[in-house]
Amino acid sequence: MSRNRVSFVCRECGHVEPKWLGRCPQCGQWNSLEERTQAAGGGGRGKGTSDTARGGRSTAEGQASIVRLSAVATDEHPRLPSGFDELDRVLGGGVTPGSSVLVGGEPGIGKSTLMLQCAGALAARGVLYVSGEESPHQIRRRADRIGVAGDRIQTLAGTGLSSVLHALESVKPAVCIVDSVQTLHDPEAGAVPGTVNQIRYCCYELADWARNHNTALFLVAHVTKEGVIAGPKVLEHMVDTVLYFEQSESDVRILRAVKNRFGATDEIGVFSMRERGLTQVSDPSSLFLVHRDGKLPAGVVAAPVYEGSRVLLVEIQALTVPAKGGVSRTFSDRIDSGRVSRVAAVLEKHAGIRFSDQDLYVNVAGGMRIAEVGVELPLAMALFSARTGRPLPEKATVTGELSLAGEVRPVPHLRRRVRAAHEFGFTHCFGPAAARDEAGGSENWTRISTVGECIAGLW
Ligand code: TYD
Ligand code: MG
Repeated sequence: MSRNRVSFVCRECGHVEPKWLGRCPQCGQWNSLEERTQAAGGGGRGKGTSDTARGGRSTAEGQASIVRLSAVATDEHPRLPSGFDELDRVLGGGVTPGSSVLVGGEPGIGKSTLMLQCAGALAARGVLYVSGEESPHQIRRRADRIGVAGDRIQTLAGTGLSSVLHALESVKPAVCIVDSVQTLHDPEAGAVPGTVNQIRYCCYELADWARNHNTALFLVAHVTKEGVIAGPKVLEHMVDTVLYFEQSESDVRILRAVKNRFGATDEIGVFSMRERGLTQVSDPSSLFLVHRDGKLPAGVVAAPVYEGSRVLLVEIQALTVPAKGGVSRTFSDRIDSGRVSRVAAVLEKHAGIRFSDQDLYVNVAGGMRIAEVGVELPLAMALFSARTGRPLPEKATVTGELSLAGEVRPVPHLRRRVRAAHEFGFTHCFGPAAARDEAGGSENWTRISTVGECIAGLW
């Protein structure tokens, strides 16, 4: 006799606890733990229990056969162009048939718009657009507004799993878009829609169908302000690609790959939300770099940063003001504030300039978030310039990582950074001497090895 095992699963993050708690220890959500019963023997049960979809796979798994790797048919299916070069690059070279892609973002950021525009570009191959959020009327109105012809796009306004699977069987589309996963439900996965179990079960079934029928599946998921995909965080390991749509400036949207089985992660695509939908921005530097006619103010440094597979030029801005009450604080939401404090400490120690009695404000023009190490030396120069009130020379740019000892460390893709800076009219680049002296024969490349040398070179 096997006894049923009971565990409690968080509705928000999927965390499992052996006993009920009022608050999830992982995500901090109150009253989110739900009872789940799992047969102790494991197999021998249908997918009808409330445990995840895998329970129903026993038959399929039983039939799995061993195949020699060289005998496995290679992927003959070419990638599909999504209609946006920016999206194709983030996906690793277009839409992969049979893959599943999670597109996360805050409500109102433009996920549905992006998906509908892709649907328009891929319509000739057959697209099924499943919407649990909007009626076909609303989708039609949006399609008209952004100029997407709806002839070859099939819509389905129900999100019951069986009706979606049924529609997939009858349409057999090349691309299926589900907007959003939070509205998917199936009675097999429990009575309440929107739970982790529901979302996980439905997405598993859909991704499985898509893989077996070479259909590319896009799953739209809402992300809360705190940045977690509510519930669908648990989907990340289940899909091939995870993209996050984030806002930088009012109309600028950045699509970031955080996981990709078919391409590089940390690749970004830049879009602009316009009157008639999203347009891609193939030259984001022109957007992020501030153009000034007059003199450069103090506290401003242009830096070539490496994002995804390309170099972008961004403007880093710093401001220092005397701290009230003598306690220094750092305000920076585009560059990690811990990094800002560390760079300020390095300057204080190795350039003899005091920051510990200052409040530090740091911004990146255009609102890009930058996590790349090459931003440290430009950040140091922006802080130094802000603190001393001395602007950088015109047409100068800086790149490099900073060690705690005040040394300038090499950064990847130096040559490409120098080239990109030159293309934007920066005639003087300051940065590390690369180990293999990557920047090569560039005459306007000033090689520096410490933060003090950089300050001496610039001023
Ligand atoms: P939407 O795609 O509905 O966002 P999501 O699906 O992520 O919730 O986009 C909604 C916002 O985009 C809304 O505020 C209006 C704006 N928008 C435009 O500015 N131009 C357009 O052409 C469209 C369709 C939407
Ligand atoms: Mg939407």
